Amino acid sequence: MAKKPQLIPNATWGIPIRTTFRAALALLIAILLISAVYFTQNRAAQVLENYSTGGGGGGGGGCDLFTGKWVFDNESYPLYKERECVFMSDQLACEKFGREDLGYRNWRWQPDECELPKFNATAVLKRLRNKRMVFVGDSLNRGQWVSMVCLVGSVIPRALQSMQSNGSLMTFKATEYNASIEFYWSPLMVESNSDDPVNHRLPDRIVKVKAIEKHAKHWADAHILVFNTYLWWRIPKIKALFGSFEESETSKLKVVEMRRGYEMALRTWADWMEVNINPNNTQVFFMSMSPIHDRGEEWGQNKGQNCYGETEQIAEVGYRGNGTDPKMMKIVETVLAELKTRGLNVEMINITQLTEYRKEAHPSVYRKQWEALKPHQISNPSSYADCIHWCLPGVPDVWNELLYAYIFHPTNPSNQSLN
Ligand SMILES: *[C@@H]1O[C@H](CO)[C@@H](O)[C@H](O)[C@H]1NC(C)=O
Ligand SMILES: *[C@@H]1O[C@H](CO)[C@@H](O)[C@H](O)[C@H]1NC(C)=O
Ligand SMILES: *[C@@H]1O[C@H](CO)[C@@H](O)[C@H](O)[C@H]1NC(C)=O
Ligand SMILES: *[C@@H]1O[C@H](CO)[C@@H](O)[C@H](O)[C@H]1NC(C)=O
Ligand SMILES: *[C@@H]1O[C@H](CO)[C@@H](O)[C@H](O)[C@H]1NC(C)=O
Ligand SMILES: *[C@@H]1O[C@H](CO)[C@@H](O)[C@H](O)[C@H]1NC(C)=O
Ligand SMILES: *[C@@H]1O[C@H](CO)[C@@H](O)[C@H](O)[C@H]1NC(C)=O
Ligand SMILES: *[C@@H]1O[C@H](CO)[C@@H](O)[C@H](O)[C@H]1NC(C)=O
Ligand SMILES: *[C@@H]1O[C@H](CO)[C@@H](O)[C@H](O)[C@H]1NC(C)=O
Repeated sequence: MAKKPQLIPNATWGIPIRTTFRAALALLIAILLISAVYFTQNRAAQVLENYSTGGGGGGGGGCDLFTGKWVFDNESYPLYKERECVFMSDQLACEKFGREDLGYRNWRWQPDECELPKFNATAVLKRLRNKRMVFVGDSLNRGQWVSMVCLVGSVIPRALQSMQSNGSLMTFKATEYNASIEFYWSPLMVESNSDDPVNHRLPDRIVKVKAIEKHAKHWADAHILVFNTYLWWRIPKIKALFGSFEESETSKLKVVEMRRGYEMALRTWADWMEVNINPNNTQVFFMSMSPIHDRGEEWGQNKGQNCYGETEQIAEVGYRGNGTDPKMMKIVETVLAELKTRGLNVEMINITQLTEYRKEAHPSVYRKQWEALKPHQISNPSSYADCIHWCLPGVPDVWNELLYAYIFHPTNPSNQSLN
């Protein structure tokens, strides 16, 4: 079971993700600051009634920000320069690690029905003044956090940015605003034996499906929360521990089908959120799953090919790779819908479909390698290409533009005016 580092789908996810995290740690990261303004209740009243929340389905003629197309735009994009981002991660800095085709940076997402508001980093900083924004999840969410740090950092001098790392929590501060943009490592959302930010490569994944408090206490008072959890669940069966690790006599271990474990964990999270998060103080988002491109045959390439060498997007409208599990998306939707009836609205930022097209935007072999490559790898670059994470600047910047739209206009995310 203890597989060598590889980025192939059926391998345990522990390896690439751990490597990633270590990378980020090694990098060390500094600060960001956010001063947030409470979103006021009457904002909702200001927006056009005909826009729905755009949560994907576009119910009621609302503007669905997630259906659209990628448009080449090398004037506005990238939104920042790779080299100028103070806390860029070596795992995501593709140009630094030798990538020469840089077109993956120059794409704008164009929704079919409306415009995506322009990302205004100053507005984010003002919003986060004396506040915390926390990304909670796995290495994909960490990549999005790095993107947010780069976006916001692009408008403040280096000396006014700082980064601190403390266990599972990394805190960027924009000191002038006393604004924090943080990342908390919690790849399965609930507690598990993969929670160590560095040493989480374990052959046997055990998930405490009913326990979240140890994580939640670190972000309970945040003003904006951005969650994800998906890839670490992509194994057929999961060992679910009921009870606690400490009192092992009273704990019961049961092997459950993965999706059932996923649902149990999300319900544990939802129950905690319902009781502990005040929607008047906190905006909550859930990022839908990020697709992977590790099997070329899914888009007509030869077997054994993956994202390595890809420079073009997938053109087929509605393309979906085999690594994307709509049943898991459905579970998230169901849990969020129930939570909404109990008084907490969590907006799902539905990045899955728009990201499916971007097979050319992964780090592939253009990232720091933490272990020396072996001859058989060097002769076959696909074998060590990272087709999971995303180069920066790149796709996660657009995820953050979508997030931005919802932070400022929860009920009408396409609205350009901010107040
Ligand atoms: C809202 O939608 C309804 C039905 O689609 C339409 O009749 C109405 O004119 C729209 N209102 C606005 C302000 O666009
Ligand atoms: C996500 O967006 C895609 C593209 O618009 C859509 O097909 C899908 O139904 C959406 N899923 C959810 C859960 O909203
Ligand atoms: C944008 O791309 C076009 C076409 O490839 C090229 O002619 C132009 O010089 C580019 N502009 C910038 C600013 O890179
Ligand atoms: C960005 O936001 C700031 C603060 O809200 C505002 O003063 C500025 O005009 C905005 N910039 C643009 C280009 O909209
Ligand atoms: C700075 O921000 C934190 C939240 O991150 C807040 O608890 C603290 O009160 C703020 N400090 C000041 C001086 O407002
Ligand atoms: C690190 O986190 C622990 C536990 O949350 C806290 O007690 C400690 O003060 C933090 N250390 C620093 C340097 O912030
Ligand atoms: C949120 O604000 C509304 C209106 O001010 C208030 O009625 C409600 O009790 C608040 N909810 C919570 C959980 O504090
Ligand atoms: C995708 O998965 C399905 C079901 O496991 C399988 O039948 C199909 O061959 C796969 N397609 C590719 C291109 O791997
Ligand atoms: C955006 O909201 C403002 C009020 O905040 C409103 O006046 C304006 O018409 C809205 N614009 C669009 C495109 O919805």
